[in-house]
Amino acid sequence: HTCTVIGAPMTYGQPFVGTDHGPEILRQRGLRSMLTALGWRVEDLPDLDFDDATTHKPTAGIGNVRNPWLVGKGTEKLAKLVSDTIKKGRFPLILGGDHSIGIGSLAGVLSARPHTGVIWVDAHADLNTPAMSESGNMHGMPVGLLMEGVAPSEPVPGFDWLYQTFRNRLPPDSIVYVGLRDVDPAERELIRDLGISAFTMHEIDRYGIGNVMEMAIGHLLEKDPNRPLHLSYDIDAVDPVLAPATGTTVRGGLTFREAHFVAEAIAQTGNLASADIVEFNPTLTNDAGADETAELTLQIITSLMGKSII
Ligand code: ARG
Ligand code: MN
Ligand code: MN
Ligand code: MN
Repeated sequence: HTCTVIGAPMTYGQPFVGTDHGPEILRQRGLRSMLTALGWRVEDLPDLDFDDATTHKPTAGIGNVRNPWLVGKGTEKLAKLVSDTIKKGRFPLILGGDHSIGIGSLAGVLSARPHTGVIWVDAHADLNTPAMSESGNMHGMPVGLLMEGVAPSEPVPGFDWLYQTFRNRLPPDSIVYVGLRDVDPAERELIRDLGISAFTMHEIDRYGIGNVMEMAIGHLLEKDPNRPLHLSYDIDAVDPVLAPATGTTVRGGLTFREAHFVAEAIAQTGNLASADIVEFNPTLTNDAGADETAELTLQIITSLMGKSII
């Protein structure tokens, strides 16, 4: 199998610079040879350019949304690349960048394989729409902008493409959350009203990560055991003691083993068809914290891409 590594160095979905260093740092630490050692053929593409001239339309916020043009144009590029990569039969491994790139990943995945089930590993639900968001940051909106019954009926400026070529939406029963612990009131209401499957840190404490992953995967695969799965892994799902280099830390997250188990359990299904790993920002902590977070991110990817302990 071929894995296409897609660098998506997006920063405009949140207030900090630094999330653009993710792809280069993971490559420097040996991502490619690690994937090769696991038996993957690797196609490593140059990072997407989110700063080229065509994206420099209005850069300021519009209404309550920050940088909608920049995020819109960038995620359009990513959506096309992800969809093309899947259609070539390859596994897109998307390296963030902030979580607004999830808009492009989800749109691309849903266009190539509409029936995909999504596992969202995150401290946050990222279910906001511009109308709901308290911050205006688009890294809190990828699920909201793509979910059936939640997505705005009119395009956010910069997102016409999401209402033309990439019209597929994600049904609420086709996503499961793992690791939630900071959910905005409007998001909470939607999760309840739509009956979205959510395994928060409370359920992880209560049932253990083994049972939680069995229930989460079971929910997505119950009707079709062959259904393709997409994983979106926000590194802030992991406890900030272990992963301090990220922009929106929340205490009380996944332990080192829980963080790996999530990836191992998904890998073992054999259904994983695409993944993104996002929100690593080496500039938000000291060098030791940045190193630790980078190494952890790489190890999680290793587990996800098929490394087993024995
Ligand atoms: N719910 C908050 C917001 O919408 C935080 C989102 C954090 N998202 C993330 N991908 N780290 O602003
Ligand atoms: Mn998050
Ligand atoms: Mn909050
Ligand atoms: Mn997120």
